[in-house]
Amino acid sequence: MSLWPGARIPNLSGQTVVVTGANSGVGYFAAMEFARAGAEVVLACRSAERGGTALAGIESVAPGRARLEMLDLSDLSSVHEFAARLKTRCSKIDILLNNAGVMAPPARQTTAQGFELQFGVNFLGHFLLTALLLEPLMNAEAPRIIQVSSVAHRQGVMAWEDLQSVRRYHAWSAYRQSKLAMLIFAQELGRQAEKGGWGLLSLAAHPGIAATELVANGPGRNSMIARLQKIGAPFVQQSGDAGAWPLILAAVDPAARQGGYFGPQGWFEFRGVPGTAKIEPRAMDLVAARKLWETAEQLTGVPLKLAP
Ligand SMILES: NC(=O)c1ccc[n+]([C@@H]2O[C@H](COP(=O)([O-])OP(=O)(O)OC[C@H]3O[C@@H](n4cnc5c(N)ncnc54)[C@H](OP(=O)(O)O)[C@@H]3O)[C@@H](O)[C@H]2O)c1
Repeated sequence: MSLWPGARIPNLSGQTVVVTGANSGVGYFAAMEFARAGAEVVLACRSAERGGTALAGIESVAPGRARLEMLDLSDLSSVHEFAARLKTRCSKIDILLNNAGVMAPPARQTTAQGFELQFGVNFLGHFLLTALLLEPLMNAEAPRIIQVSSVAHRQGVMAWEDLQSVRRYHAWSAYRQSKLAMLIFAQELGRQAEKGGWGLLSLAAHPGIAATELVANGPGRNSMIARLQKIGAPFVQQSGDAGAWPLILAAVDPAARQGGYFGPQGWFEFRGVPGTAKIEPRAMDLVAARKLWETAEQLTGVPLKLAP
């Protein structure tokens, strides 16, 4: 992977980085770079086979730096098991990259606990993971949590009366809502961290439009969006590794500030070198933030707060 012009990833030796959805797309490229920079990288994946292939790929360039741990964000018990295992194996976590995601499956699907799949995997699973890993994160010197959002958050609306799309399922609205939720969450986590003096940076990032498995895994290889993507690719899309740059920048930029949001700098933030991305004002809404936080605590059954 060639990084953006002039970029340098600092030496990450001694740091532990957890990447969800690390077997594919931007998560894989980010994990690869963290491992290459010397970090101990936990690949949090739901498939032993796909995770094993990714591990082998990373091993071939950064031997002994990564390991695979099973995590299925569509099942809250898997999130609990993963966090419990990790806490016995890592005394501290420096960087948590909440990257895994699913986009716009044509028919409504649900998680093990009955939540709409995109709200459940993209947001709720990561909310719970963050809550459960707060303790080892607080053991790190300068911990960072990065939520992966999307340009799609700009059209996102929180459907408070039907968050789980029970009454009406629209694949893209549900995706946009989940990505808006990730950004609202990143902002509120930052505010809570500041208020409580946690010494933790809460950030967000998006990959622009990157060539990954996201369309194939969601709408499908023969979908309209897949066809449009093929036509538009030369103009708007960037490679999967370039899509990982903003996520990596959020993880390592010494100039990052609380609540910072990173994305590509080109036209509409679709591609380009990474830098500061535009946050839609409704992602900064304080009332929505509290409502989302309380809803997530209620649905996951776990409060997100520091142990007394
Ligand atoms: N590519 C883009 O243009 C784009 C644009 C904006 C935002 N994003 C965001 O970037 C993130 C990464 O997506 P990508 O583009 O790299 O797509 P991708 O290649 O499909 O990668 C998604 C990753 O998430 C994992 N995942 C899905 N459901 C999971 C679950 N229940 N539990 C654990 N892991 C799960 C996938 O695992 P499996 O391989 O097992 O399915 C895969 O590793 C997503 O949050 C996406 O919304 C991407």
